Amino acid sequence: MNTTRKSNNETGPGADEFANQLDEQRRIIDRLDGEILRLFNERLEVAARIGAIKARLRLSVRDTRREAQVFQRLMSLNQGSLLANRYVVRVFAALMAAARDVQGPVSHPADGFGTPAIFAVFGNPVVHSLSPVMHNAAFAATGYNGIYAAIRVKDIRPAVSGMRALGLKGASITIPHKESVLACLDDIDPTARRIKAVNTIVNDEGSLKGFNTDCDGVIQALAEKISIKGRHVGILGAGGAARAVAFGVIGQGATATIFNRSREKGAALAAELGADFEPLSEFAAERCDILVNTTPVGMSPQGQDTPLLGEQLQPGLVVMDIVYNPLKTRLLREAEAAGCETIDGLSMFVHQGARQFELWTGLAAPVDIMRMAVEAELLTK
Ligand code: ATR
Repeated sequence: MNTTRKSNNETGPGADEFANQLDEQRRIIDRLDGEILRLFNERLEVAARIGAIKARLRLSVRDTRREAQVFQRLMSLNQGSLLANRYVVRVFAALMAAARDVQGPVSHPADGFGTPAIFAVFGNPVVHSLSPVMHNAAFAATGYNGIYAAIRVKDIRPAVSGMRALGLKGASITIPHKESVLACLDDIDPTARRIKAVNTIVNDEGSLKGFNTDCDGVIQALAEKISIKGRHVGILGAGGAARAVAFGVIGQGATATIFNRSREKGAALAAELGADFEPLSEFAAERCDILVNTTPVGMSPQGQDTPLLGEQLQPGLVVMDIVYNPLKTRLLREAEAAGCETIDGLSMFVHQGARQFELWTGLAAPVDIMRMAVEAELLTK
């Protein structure tokens, strides 16, 4: 392959040298592509042999557990390269789809087969939403034929009407529509009704039902580190996220104190949910086993801020931040230095997304893959 070159007069000294380097690198790419193609065909031949064995054993072509294992292994092998991780699921999902094709017809578990099922996140702003990366990775990893996009929505009511008209199978709802969307739906799950916020819509053959998976997200994220029952949870903030966290942990048998900057809002939420209230300025860690920050303090670009200092914490406390940008907030860094266990905001984000995926598809969510896809996106942005 030859690169079109300009004369030295036009491009200055050294242009020929760069053009040579470009040709050389392209020759390397051509050689690697040849190797990849050869390996791809070799992989298909092995897949065909596996297909024959499966047929003899009367096993189904599709083995989702094995596919998940392949992804997990690849992700852990590839830990060094976050940029590549971003594409591993997509590239290998395509390889596995080809492998299934050579093995024969697949009876597909999801009704997203054929025409893709369409999903979206409605919010404003949504340009930085990580939900598309997370859900598209989950679709690819499970072979579910779905597409997920971010749509900036200023007015939620016509957006929900559009969802009905276009037959979107599901939607995530984010800021600022989580509360106002309730009035647009046919049915609301009791948990979402209590929290007065919906972050998930399921379109069940034209009937739109709202759910709140933030609550499950926080419970799952905490449960990975500590049993919640009987613990005392300090919650920083008194907005919608605090309501979901408080409702979730109290539902699991914990008690809670809301620590908020403004007394009125904090005391009202505490009274509503059967929690205690203290002003944020009087935060005391002694009573708490778990601390969850639901305020936006510490979020990029104000990453230097923190709602509490390390000296206000104590060793053994489990500290979770729902802010995930940056991944390690100043609060989490201070907590680590103070001898606390920490849980970053991605855990809750991924678990709420996993629950959404399950509600939409009826399949088990590939949680680790969803997390790795989001982490890679966040760290390579
Ligand atoms: P969300 O619905 O996402 O939880 P929200 O309703 O805006 O968001 O609530 C944000 C919470 O973070 C509020 O409780 C807010 O405290 P006030 O009730 O006093 O407004 C709290 N918050 C926001 N910025 C804060 C800051 N700089 N310091 C302390 N608390 C803050």
